[in-house]
Amino acid sequence: MNAVEVRNLCFKYRNSQEKILDNVNLSVMEGETIALLGGSGSGKTTFCNCLCGLIPNVYSGEFSGEVELFGENINNMNIAKIVTKAGMIFQNPSTQLFSPTIEDELAFGPENLCVDRKEIARRMDNVLKTIDMEDYRFENPNNLSGGQQQLIAMASVLMLDPKILICDEIMSWVDQNGKNIIRNLLLKLKEEKRTIIIVDHDLENVKISDRVVQVRDGKFY
Ligand SMILES: Nc1ncnc2c1ncn2[C@@H]1O[C@H](COP(=O)(O)OP(=O)(O)OP(=O)(O)O)[C@@H](O)[C@H]1O
Ligand SMILES: [Mg+2]
Repeated sequence: MNAVEVRNLCFKYRNSQEKILDNVNLSVMEGETIALLGGSGSGKTTFCNCLCGLIPNVYSGEFSGEVELFGENINNMNIAKIVTKAGMIFQNPSTQLFSPTIEDELAFGPENLCVDRKEIARRMDNVLKTIDMEDYRFENPNNLSGGQQQLIAMASVLMLDPKILICDEIMSWVDQNGKNIIRNLLLKLKEEKRTIIIVDHDLENVKISDRVVQVRDGKFY
């Protein structure tokens, strides 16, 4: 069974003239890392929003076709279920961080899903170790660099243990050193056999992918 199966996906925002996604088909195997490369406005973020349920739950419009995560159609899953299957990391980490400490930030997602306290503590130790930021537990996310903030945003997604990670231009706000650290983290997650979808327009940032898909005017090549 594939991690992601998209069939004949079309989408048009309520106020857009043309289809933003035009009959997209894509299969991603479990454990595969793929890159979506395309110019600004080609529909990459719109596609990611379809994979993580933001479309059609938050952004409405004309939606047709099928999106399946591990064989299950996302139309039949609630948001709580989708976030444990596919975690999305956005371009600007500060839009994802809102808690006074990193510990609170990391606990927020699983607390909302009523995950047991001991399990949250266990995951937090693991995740902080994975991103190599154990010393920052009580730090305020506002005091961190862009790269560190992005690592915390990734960690908060990893706290829900999704098997699929969607990274939408996550290097944009990160300096060169931060990029290297995040690339290493992605490699580690790849070794854990997670399925990773990297969206970018810089080839350098998608070197770790197994396959590149070109996105042009809402079509995938
Ligand atoms: N919420 C929205 N409502 C209406 N139109 C939108 C909305 N979000 C995006 N669009 C339009 O959809 C098209 C595709 O946008 P999208 O953000 O998916 O592109 P992208 O490939 O992610 O671009 P970028 O590389 O700049 O992030 C653009 O024409 C954009 O103006
Ligand atoms: Mg985008």
